Amino acid sequence: MDRENGIEARWMTWHEAGDEIVDLRRRAFVDELGWSERWVRHARDPEGLHLCAVSGGKIVAVISAYLYEPGAPELADAALPDVDGWTVQLGKRVEVAEHRGHLVSARIGTSMVRQICESLRPARFFLLLLQNGHPHLVDRYARRGFARYGDVGSGDDALTVMTVEGEEALEEFHLKNRRVDRETASGDDPIPVPSLVRFLAGTGRGDLLAADRLGAENLYLESLPPGDELPRLSAQGRLMLAEQRPRLAATPFPPAPASLLDIGSGPGDYLAAIAGETPFAGYRVQGVEPAPELLARARAAFPGHTFRPGSAYATGEADSSHDVITAHFVLVHLRSPDLALLEMRRVLRPGGLLYVVDGDNTSFRGPDVIRHVVETYNHGYAGDRLIMKDLPARAAEFGFQPVRRFATTMRNTGGTGPVFGPDEIRLGRKESWSLLSFLREWGGGTEAYREAEEHYFGTECEISMNVETQVYRLGSAG
Ligand SMILES: C[S@@+](CC[C@H](N)C(=O)[O-])C[C@H]1O[C@@H](n2cnc3c(N)ncnc32)[C@H](O)[C@@H]1O
Repeated sequence: MDRENGIEARWMTWHEAGDEIVDLRRRAFVDELGWSERWVRHARDPEGLHLCAVSGGKIVAVISAYLYEPGAPELADAALPDVDGWTVQLGKRVEVAEHRGHLVSARIGTSMVRQICESLRPARFFLLLLQNGHPHLVDRYARRGFARYGDVGSGDDALTVMTVEGEEALEEFHLKNRRVDRETASGDDPIPVPSLVRFLAGTGRGDLLAADRLGAENLYLESLPPGDELPRLSAQGRLMLAEQRPRLAATPFPPAPASLLDIGSGPGDYLAAIAGETPFAGYRVQGVEPAPELLARARAAFPGHTFRPGSAYATGEADSSHDVITAHFVLVHLRSPDLALLEMRRVLRPGGLLYVVDGDNTSFRGPDVIRHVVETYNHGYAGDRLIMKDLPARAAEFGFQPVRRFATTMRNTGGTGPVFGPDEIRLGRKESWSLLSFLREWGGGTEAYREAEEHYFGTECEISMNVETQVYRLGSAG
């Protein structure tokens, strides 16, 4: 159904939308711009990704992308050498004249790139610009992170090839684009874009998704060395157990016997602690953790529990094998929460509960000088520090219905030892700052961080941030 502004975004197969897309391209490229008919169709359109903006039942804008495996002949045509992984070509976006200037195609374009970066993890992007088309586009794409790679063809068909490749350039491109995407998605007239992961999984193309490639990534440990983190995690675990007790008691967990899977269980302390809580009496409890050093620590410290290697994207568990999934301070460290949701949907039995706890960075309150460092971090970290705000909508796409939502505000206005109030915990100044330790590890060397720290310890400023608990039930249609 169309939204208030009359526009809805949809991923569409070529079978559904091909005729309409061809018609739209012909009007824009051939009739208006005078290009040759050959630009209307792309040999890979049938298996391409097509993100459409639909209004009144008609496609008003579309952007297409094409995936090439190493060795694909099209890469040689563009004079591109092989790379290890997918190459993604971004096609030219098209919109009907009435919708130009309303940023519709820009909105779907940034979302498409963001979702491809998060869930397909390509090794390269490229695009082809007709030299006689729009010469100014070379500069525009250069500002977005594309580098001019070379020229192919001649005469009216001469093309400029622009690429983004190499890990660093791709990451910078992704983070910059994600920031623009977040800004437009929270603007006045956002067009929510559905999940590419769900679309691919639902159309039998889940094999394109990067579950295995992403499984080797641990953004958390890349920025925080485990040696420093172990004592901090234990202290955080003790605090969170006290915070969580009433939350756990207020959640309708299924009765025992039942099975609980904890994703990203780290050193295991927190899982071992909650396993002893009343709602989980008689449960079979198991953790999965990708970091070998944390997994070894968990196994050694808690031999009575089972810990296995595995990531949120590929847990290694059987379909519908668990009644409850927990993820405690893990989701914000994932590049692709959607891929994790897909895996959780697979592993949870229909009717089972997903129980997520994490910091909500959008709720940070404090002086500008500190807020600035937090926001810079949110944008520069490849994990999704803003996921708790987006999770209800994203989880809904995977069939998770909200059951409970709690927020606890962590404040720095306590004394020695935490003070627990309804929906809040007051900590000492020093302890509160250490909860923001991720900022030090990440931006500790920067002038902005030093200023923020100096301000914090040199004034009586107050800061606060929420930790959210969100509980979902997997619908029986899954
Ligand atoms: C902040 S720690 C939380 C650990 C534990 N859940 C706790 O509350 O003490 C984040 C954990 O997520 C794990 N992690 C990082 N990337 C992951 C991924 N892709 N899948 C699953 N876990 C991941 C880290 O190795 C680490 O154990």
